[in-house]
Amino acid sequence: MSVVVNHISKKFGNQLALNDVSFSIKAGEVVGLLGANGAGKSTLMKIITGYLPSDGGYALVGDLPVGTNKTAFRERIGYLPENTPLYHEMYVREYLLMVAGMYRLKHKKNRVAEVVEITGLKPEITKRIGALSKGYRQRVGLAQALIHDPEVLILDEPTSGLDPNQLDEIRNLIKNLSEKKTVILSTHIMQEVEAVCNRVMIIRNGEMVADGPVDQIKKLTKQKRQTVKLTISEAVNMNQLNKLSFIADVSRIDENEYLITASVDEDDIRPKIFEAAVRNGWTIISMQEESRSVESAFRELTK
Ligand SMILES: Nc1ncnc2c1ncn2[C@@H]1O[C@H](COP(=O)(O)OP(=O)(O)OP(=O)(O)O)[C@@H](O)[C@H]1O
Ligand SMILES: [Mg+2]
Repeated sequence: MSVVVNHISKKFGNQLALNDVSFSIKAGEVVGLLGANGAGKSTLMKIITGYLPSDGGYALVGDLPVGTNKTAFRERIGYLPENTPLYHEMYVREYLLMVAGMYRLKHKKNRVAEVVEITGLKPEITKRIGALSKGYRQRVGLAQALIHDPEVLILDEPTSGLDPNQLDEIRNLIKNLSEKKTVILSTHIMQEVEAVCNRVMIIRNGEMVADGPVDQIKKLTKQKRQTVKLTISEAVNMNQLNKLSFIADVSRIDENEYLITASVDEDDIRPKIFEAAVRNGWTIISMQEESRSVESAFRELTK
């Protein structure tokens, strides 16, 4: 099922939290919504799920405009809100049965058993939600989002606060789910997008600043190469430095000080410079990174 967002804006007081955001997601796409704190990710998700009205533009889930025909609309969307608000006094099974009831599911018990299995909640099923660890609470949140088998999943930071093992499990779970569903998930973490999504949208100050296949956006952020300032005890022949395959460009900034630009595909060339120095008998006095490729470009895009 497709999701269309068309010229959506949202104001809080005189703050423009979303500024004319438009995109269109095809059925089966898994989209990572990437942005810094306060960028507008949660606001956008609340608007798509119909929890918050927009101040302009419209959104469609499949053929249904957000905000109309509430029951049919709710049936097609599963939403994991930020900070998974849950009823802490309720037991896991009791809560999921209640949610199944809200969707008027026919075989409530069977369906609860299924989502408990899918989300790995079985060992914790008899506990009160308030007694669960953060990761398991997150799984309850996922279970309630999945229970009515919606075609579209909107997951607001589904892996926040999870330990590395749980992180892997939840990412795999989302990946498996995404085979049959359209998924939009928000995150601060580029690696998460790489691990789970095939498309990434970067949002900054309420504006969409990049949207495309993950590979393409990664390339975009890699155009920034690492530069290293190198000081060697005596002047070396620039040709010797230029010959090194991991170096794209060298300029001399002082008698024995060089500014080195890494080749495109290099991540961190400092260990290679060190090895080359040992091989050639140069004494390195200092080696300093001037800019960091992927992270700095990512920071530029999101901040
Ligand atoms: N109910 C509200 N009232 C006033 N301002 C709000 C409200 N909800 C969000 N905002 C503001 O809108 C901006 C976007 O917030 P939003 O929660 O969408 O960001 P986010 O990208 O989800 O950030 P985070 O990564 O911290 O969750 C922020 O500046 C926030 O303070
Ligand atoms: Mg948020």
